[in-house]
Amino acid sequence: MGAGLRNPKVWIALACLLPLARLIALGASGGLGANPIEFITRSTGTWTLIGLLVTLSVTPLRRLTGRADLVRYRRMLGLFAFFYACLHFTTYVWLDQFFDPAAIARDIVKRPFITVGFSAFMLLIPLAATSTHAMMRRLGRRWQQLHRLVYPIALLGVVHFLWLVKKDLTEPLVYGAILALLLALRLPWGLNLLGALRARFVPARS
Ligand code: HEM
Repeated sequence: MGAGLRNPKVWIALACLLPLARLIALGASGGLGANPIEFITRSTGTWTLIGLLVTLSVTPLRRLTGRADLVRYRRMLGLFAFFYACLHFTTYVWLDQFFDPAAIARDIVKRPFITVGFSAFMLLIPLAATSTHAMMRRLGRRWQQLHRLVYPIALLGVVHFLWLVKKDLTEPLVYGAILALLLALRLPWGLNLLGALRARFVPARS
């Protein structure tokens, strides 16, 4: 196996591209159902939210396993979440609203779930723009403060989903519960729990 394939980043990137590959394959084979635009919007929206939650699980996983190196994968995961958010937004702007700025502005003001999704997307942009090592160094402590925006962004993502669902709230509530857990694992209660789980189940590394 070449050095490239031994790098977990390559495998993580390939895994992150699978939802897009699936959409392309379904599109090519006419498998996007009766409403392909809705299918693509829903799929890219779901993967944006999952991407945010996976990114937010890196820090608790580091604490649980004691593997500080996991942080190396966090930026790529966050950027993939942003990538799917861009696809989601593009699908909306292009296929749903036909690039009509007035219609889009009206929709953002009128439909609360669009207002919330749009706000989440706007907040993601400065995070993606400052995700480089150079920006990290330049911003210092302010980088961390800025990137705490990921918490309200994920919350807005869940609220967006809750607001757009008409009947069965189960799916957005499941995402909401996962987000609540990921946030709680950062509080003293959660830190204690992770410490206890680590002491009990994770063998100490020499
Ligand atoms: C971080 C940003 C965002 C996240 C996490 C997100 C997430 C989601 C999720 C999870 C869904 C539902 C998927 C499903 O039904 O299974 C969805 C649907 C949708 N989102 Fe977003 N979204 C975001 C931003 C946006 C933006 C910026 C817009 C447009 C301005 C938008 C417009 C829509 C629309 C039109 C739907 C489909 C509604 C329907 O099928 O009835 N979203 N989004």
